Amino acid sequence: MNKIVMVTSLKGGVGKTTVTAGLSHALAGRGKNVIAIDMDFGVRGLDIALGMESYAAPSIVEWLEGTCELRNAALPVNEYLTFIAAPINEGGENLKTEPLNTCLLELKKHYDIVFLDMPAGGGHIFDTVSSCSAVTEALVVATHNENSLRAAQKVAGELTGKGISRIHLILNCFAPDKVREGEARPILETLFQVSVPLVGVVPYEPSADNLVHNQLLAPHDQNKICNGKRALDNIAARMCGKNIPLFKGIMKTKPRSRLF
Ligand SMILES: Nc1ncnc2c1ncn2[C@@H]1O[C@H](COP(=O)(O)OP(=O)(O)OP(=O)(O)O)[C@@H](O)[C@H]1O
Ligand SMILES: [Mg+2]
Repeated sequence: MNKIVMVTSLKGGVGKTTVTAGLSHALAGRGKNVIAIDMDFGVRGLDIALGMESYAAPSIVEWLEGTCELRNAALPVNEYLTFIAAPINEGGENLKTEPLNTCLLELKKHYDIVFLDMPAGGGHIFDTVSSCSAVTEALVVATHNENSLRAAQKVAGELTGKGISRIHLILNCFAPDKVREGEARPILETLFQVSVPLVGVVPYEPSADNLVHNQLLAPHDQNKICNGKRALDNIAARMCGKNIPLFKGIMKTKPRSRLF
């Protein structure tokens, strides 16, 4: 498997960090060795999503600059999931492609999946990360609205221009009720707008914390898992090469309904 995946979007607040944390847990739950890196320098957020905010460790920058070892920066979240923090007082202006690429290639030797939780928008961190030859995949996160999808199309074009060959779309905060009430467009109409292949749809989840917390439930309690979490697990399964229907375990779809 061994891949390095940017989780990105031009728009802020669409769910990149939530998706990174949720997918990291889902893939770790499938026995994959995952490392999730917060690339949102200065702002951060993945530490909170992964429940690691009270652990002090050197950031990715210290490792890149060689002032600490990987084992000092890499914090175990659980047996299969590791986290590296973003720096607190640095905006990423000094980030350079070559050392980053070398470090990412090193991580690729040890982990099945390296997730890079990107800041919103283009800019220097986006350019530097997407210029790394080690980064070959991207997940573009968008919400179910016109502006967000237009931005997804644009960022996918930029990534393609940088030589990133595998780009997939995650439609987040999908609200079927809004479709029924005519407030949001049916999903197929939405998807015709973008040429980025869809890897999954994550429903709007009123308790969004459930999406990022690792719920280890006994088999008889599996029905307590929220739909958003199931959707993330479906995406994780697809990333592992499994063929899973779009809404498996999430909602029943009628072939002729307004959703399709
Ligand atoms: N599927 C969802 N259902 C409900 N709320 C969600 C969902 N996904 C994300 N959220 C909420 O939306 C907010 C923004 O999410 P998140 O921080 O993951 O976005 P982001 O794209 O990483 O933002 P930024 O661009 O600032 O880094 C958070 O409050 C999060 O809990
Ligand atoms: Mg974020």
